[in-house]
Amino acid sequence: MKKLSLLLVGFLLIFTLAACTAEEEAVGENGEEIPKIGVTVYKFDDNFMSFVRRAIEKHGEGKADLILNDSQNDQAKQNEQVEMMISKGVKSLAINLVDPQAAATIISKAKEADLPIVFFNKEPSSEDMSSYEKCWYVGTTSAEAGIIQGELVTDTWKANPDWDRNGDGKLQYVMLKGEPGHPDAEARTKYVIETIIEKGIEVEELELQTGMWDSAKGKELMDAWLAKHGDKIEYIISNNDAMALGAINSLKAEGYFKDDKFMPVVGVDAIPDALTQIEEGVLVGSVLNDARNQGKGALDLALNAANGKDILEGTEWKLDDKKAVRVPYVAITIDNIQEAKDCYAQ
Ligand code: BGC
Ligand code: CA
Repeated sequence: MKKLSLLLVGFLLIFTLAACTAEEEAVGENGEEIPKIGVTVYKFDDNFMSFVRRAIEKHGEGKADLILNDSQNDQAKQNEQVEMMISKGVKSLAINLVDPQAAATIISKAKEADLPIVFFNKEPSSEDMSSYEKCWYVGTTSAEAGIIQGELVTDTWKANPDWDRNGDGKLQYVMLKGEPGHPDAEARTKYVIETIIEKGIEVEELELQTGMWDSAKGKELMDAWLAKHGDKIEYIISNNDAMALGAINSLKAEGYFKDDKFMPVVGVDAIPDALTQIEEGVLVGSVLNDARNQGKGALDLALNAANGKDILEGTEWKLDDKKAVRVPYVAITIDNIQEAKDCYAQ
């Protein structure tokens, strides 16, 4: 009996070793060994993140053996995925947190395994970032999207005096906010309004609620707000395009965007579906959130980290004092729509 179990253990060992070496055989274009990199995306069915994910995959081709995980909007699941990837021998981690507050948990796991981490899209707090030498961030300057969106609102409002439907000189708006606590959602919500006010326009908030970045939730909220306020609403400001598109669906169902019935809507991201709405004269504009470069940047840094190189080696990225690479936002209207199209064409 003892012999038999020893034999079994022996076999198991051989099999595991064989499996390990088989797994380690990922090779690059020139037959060289390429590193395993563990990637998580907070949820695969987020419109914008699906473009970031594709950029990561594309730029990783032939250079990295990616283990990609859908964290399904569940931080506990993501924590397990990180442990699983560490046990599979990844050389670095590229993490899109579910909960931005959970960075410390992920950092402690990586620290224990002495693994570098590149966070992307959801920025950890500066305390978390400075708690570990081997962590970096790739994203944007969150406030910038709000400022640019505020300028878009201001410019279009001033150019269209009839948008002040009740003629009181104030802009009555509803706000579709992204996930509360998400640095992008918080900063966009704050800075868009601050910018409008700074530019001399008085505002009145009719509604502000979270649509969790999600199109269906954006539509639900808009249905309710239209029923409650009707055309007392003068502007719809959305933290992202997905929710703006949901609101547009709701408005279309109420007869907007035909026979002179119009409602201004602005978003952020400039994803392809939003660009179509800009071309059709429905969406006023958006703010390009450069998915391609954020995906590429996250991969570039994670790859350098995995290969033990200097984090910026061979790239054109720059780090700020928060160890962050920040890709700029760009205002998008019909006039420069091609710029956003090129970015999402990948
Ligand atoms: C994007 C949103 C997206 C979110 C996910 C933001 O930067 O604008 O569309 O849902 O990131 O974290
Ligand atoms: Ca008004």
